[in-house]
Amino acid sequence: MSLEKETKYQRCRERILALCEGEEDVVAKMASVVGVLHNEMEGFYWTGFYRVVDGGLVIGPYQGTVGCLRIEVGRGVCGTAAKVGETQVVPDVYEFPGHIACDASSRSEIVVPVKDASGSLIAVLDVDSTEKGTFDEVDQKFLEGILAEVFS
Ligand code: SME
Repeated sequence: MSLEKETKYQRCRERILALCEGEEDVVAKMASVVGVLHNEMEGFYWTGFYRVVDGGLVIGPYQGTVGCLRIEVGRGVCGTAAKVGETQVVPDVYEFPGHIACDASSRSEIVVPVKDASGSLIAVLDVDSTEKGTFDEVDQKFLEGILAEVFS
């Protein structure tokens, strides 16, 4: 299972890097990351970015059901990842205090902070699954790696 997941991530990484090569527009790159991951990875029910705008999080490119438009830093899983600057792996969203249920089908998620070349937080990537315990350290390793290569 894990090996297959690693193979899929490696394929995604190559496609994303090829798509984003020479591209400087951040939203174009976010759309490409989401488009590849959401369609290639298994169990990615909602895949999208929340961008840091005026000190809050505002929806960016995503695929899946309609997401919340704005999230305060410090609120929910996305807001926590933005506040502490570290990836949040949540095996069961019902056990995460303050989880924001934009879609009641979401059951587990991973949220990864996105930084630019100067180390400033520019967004978070949020991936939700309808199953419990979908995400682990393999997802964390590959998503953090891909985002660093594309945006830093
Ligand atoms: N799960 C997120 C909210 C955003 S959506 O589910 C699209 C959270 O608690 O941060």
